[in-house]
Amino acid sequence: MADKQTAAKQMERVNAILQHPGYQSWIIAINQAEMGRDFCRHGVEHALDVARIAYALWLDNGGNPVAKDIVYAAALLHDVGRWQEYEDPTVDHAEAAAELAEPLLLEVGYHPLVAAEIVKAVRLHRKGAPDGLAQVLYRADKLSRPCYLCPSRRKCNWPADKMNDELLY
Ligand SMILES: [Fe+2]
Repeated sequence: MADKQTAAKQMERVNAILQHPGYQSWIIAINQAEMGRDFCRHGVEHALDVARIAYALWLDNGGNPVAKDIVYAAALLHDVGRWQEYEDPTVDHAEAAAELAEPLLLEVGYHPLVAAEIVKAVRLHRKGAPDGLAQVLYRADKLSRPCYLCPSRRKCNWPADKMNDELLY
């Protein structure tokens, strides 16, 4: 198992995203827009739930453990466009998130080809993909919601057969 220093080194870029003033301002804007929302919020708690589940799925699918930070980066960024969608409902938050993510990923040091892979997964996170990073991100996003404990089930527009009735990850 990686010691703390090695783990921290591997997560350096993820921490740079979390500490980036732009990222923090997007999360604050989402938190403010969702203040009256009583279920399925999209703040950093959701982003971290998705990150951890996506990485578990990634490993279960035989993914390389070295890509941990890439999986986390995609998950942390997948919903950052939500605040734009709240301001203008014609905006697709996945598209908005992809636009916001790309320069930030380059700024924290990702190679343009790796950044492009992360941006592609962010862009596809609502539609899904047959495999790879986009697929685990899509699945983790769905699996992250504890519908089995949700007091607002009746208000939810998810079809009953899509709800998580048991914990898988
Ligand atoms: Fe999400």
